[in-house]
Amino acid sequence: MLPLRAVAARHSYSPYSKFPVGAAVLAASGKIYTGANIENASFGLCNCAERTAVFTAAAAGERKLRAVAIYTPTPTATAPCGACRQVLNEFGPDMTVLSTCDSDDRLETTLPKLLPFGFGPQDLA
Ligand code: THU
Repeated sequence: MLPLRAVAARHSYSPYSKFPVGAAVLAASGKIYTGANIENASFGLCNCAERTAVFTAAAAGERKLRAVAIYTPTPTATAPCGACRQVLNEFGPDMTVLSTCDSDDRLETTLPKLLPFGFGPQDLA
């Protein structure tokens, strides 16, 4: 698999922010799906790298995600935005979240820590 920095550099479409992000999700099947941020001239419709990766996995039939790894072009590791936390929660409520950046700084945590009391499928059951 490409390093996430390379996923971001090669596949990110970020002409407005010039902030290329790469992400990869590990599914319960053992497969890994990558994504990059895809921006839009209508700024509100920009899609983060994490959500691109989740939607790619889901479109391939995956329904259980174990972990997500993220690269942002920053000096320190950053956590996923609120919208991405909600989307990650749909298929990976217990998942590990690992953030990487342009230095050796790392953030390793879990989705329940980033999204406590999250709203999910169980709330509609
Ligand atoms: N972005 C991501 O793709 N993931 C993050 O975790 C943070 C933000 C994108 C959204 C937008 O395309 C650009 O980075 C600037 O916010």
